[in-house]
Amino acid sequence: MTKRDASATLYVAGNINVDLIMGTLDSWPQRGTEVMLNHSELRPGGSAGNCALALEAMQVQHRAIANQGDDGLSAWLASHFPHSAAYWTRYSCETSLTVGVTHSDHERSFLSNLGHIVRLSAQDVLAQLPKQASPGDIVLLCGTFLCLQLYEEYPALLGELQRRGYITAVDTGWPPQGWSDAVRDQLARWLALCDWLLLNEVETLGLSAQDDLPRAAQQLASQLSGRGGCVVKRGAEGAACWHNGGAWHQPARPVTVVDTIGAGDSFNAGFLAALVHQQEIPHALRWGIAVASLAISTQPRRYPDWHQLQLSAQEF
Ligand SMILES: Nc1ncnc2c1ncn2[C@@H]1O[C@H](COP(=O)(O)OP(=O)(O)OP(=O)(O)O)[C@@H](O)[C@H]1O
Ligand SMILES: [Mg+2]
Repeated sequence: MTKRDASATLYVAGNINVDLIMGTLDSWPQRGTEVMLNHSELRPGGSAGNCALALEAMQVQHRAIANQGDDGLSAWLASHFPHSAAYWTRYSCETSLTVGVTHSDHERSFLSNLGHIVRLSAQDVLAQLPKQASPGDIVLLCGTFLCLQLYEEYPALLGELQRRGYITAVDTGWPPQGWSDAVRDQLARWLALCDWLLLNEVETLGLSAQDDLPRAAQQLASQLSGRGGCVVKRGAEGAACWHNGGAWHQPARPVTVVDTIGAGDSFNAGFLAALVHQQEIPHALRWGIAVASLAISTQPRRYPDWHQLQLSAQEF
């Protein structure tokens, strides 16, 4: 069994917002009318938020690096991240809120305001991090395309993180504007400063402008710093990693899926927790899948604690 007390810390920086999930809605209401739905759930969300909640449950040494607004939801959101929120920069604005509407065919539609996450700056992030990394410390940047200010500052931010000695990881998510040459050019400015890139299949194909997954992932891996690799989350197929010219594939667990929101963020928590604990890539893929599998198959959502994680990662 792996030791839990790694000296390294996993810092997760990016979008932490409020999610309001409501359902089930099967046809859009006529303008100006009201519809009663039979289910609603208010919970902390956003890629960085989901990942940090999983790390908290897993008892992995971590900090959520973020900012906040100053309306009625700000304190509620901060209360879910008690060890991190004291450091968050406060902006005079609304809290970022996503309303997720679920449909009976398992599709979902999302409505989001801009709120505080678009204001998060590189200075906010750097001020919450030690000036010098401890050996093995990782900084994960996520919600790339939603943190509009930070998106512009990625090259400078990743450069400074490398100078401070951090291992860097990025999960961009899907660009709301779609993949264009302008988006690819923007990302090309910092890929070489990124050690680990964590994407899903369509993001991997979109960013690389390829239609063959292994070639796409191999190409992206070769554009990174060379110290990590390109991890591809493949839904029900599992996950894979391209690193140093080699490729590893790990099939998923067959699970009864009840809610896939944040599947990729839960995977990131497990995968990077394994790296913080000096695990090899095949183990890291299993840790990622173990966390995601439990998260997407439980309602209310559950994440494994440290002991459960060790047991379930051994069951592969
Ligand atoms: N239908 C499924 N069956 C089994 N496992 C799944 C399923 N969907 C997702 N997973 C698990 O969750 C992990 C991450 O999911 P996915 O590949 O969908 O990431 P993603 O697209 O980045 O997710 P997100 O929508 O949260 O960004 C997968 O590697 C797998 O372990
Ligand atoms: Mg994702």
